[in-house]
Amino acid sequence: MKPHLLLTTILISIPMSSFSGSPPESNGITYPEGWQAWSTIAVSHRTDNNTLRVILGNDVAVTAARSGETNPWPDGAVIGKVVWKEADLESWPAAKVPNEFVHAEFMFKNTKKYGETGGWGWARWVGLDMKPFDDGMQICVACHTPVAQRDWVFSDPAILPTEE
Ligand code: HEC
Repeated sequence: MKPHLLLTTILISIPMSSFSGSPPESNGITYPEGWQAWSTIAVSHRTDNNTLRVILGNDVAVTAARSGETNPWPDGAVIGKVVWKEADLESWPAAKVPNEFVHAEFMFKNTKKYGETGGWGWARWVGLDMKPFDDGMQICVACHTPVAQRDWVFSDPAILPTEE
């Protein structure tokens, strides 16, 4: 195989290249480019539907999380949650690992702009092709209502050792 053909074959088999350009808006919100490189705030495991989740933040959200400024979260914070179906690790089945990608969803803090939905804009992109969810923010808000007093966020930042 010629080298450039080999490279093309490798590139098109990387799952992350399964959409091109920026995915369309979800609930009127622009896709947050580059979220794959954000830092981790927390993780969770749902035993009712066997999924693993990582909760991420942009710089504003991560700085707020690390300094405990999470009620309220500052304007400009974006919190993401990435969901995978879980599978057994083949070489150690008691370990559950991420398998099929389900979706990535985001809360965008902007107190003024999103005053009617708790101060957050709510958006979700589904599947590796990042199909935008467009059924409105109320579905999200309704389910997050039990934590309205925690600025609508369920997760506590995971405990981390700090460096002096
Ligand atoms: C059926 C209830 C339900 C619905 C609907 C729902 N969420 Fe959540 N969401 C949760 C729960 C419970 C958690 C925390 C535990 C977990 O899933 O990791 C959570 C966590 C999150 C987080 C991580 C921050 C946090 O609150 O812990 C984001 C971001 C998020 N949801 C966004 C959304 C968006 C955007 C929508 C709508 C497109 C949505 N959610 C709809 C229940 C829901």
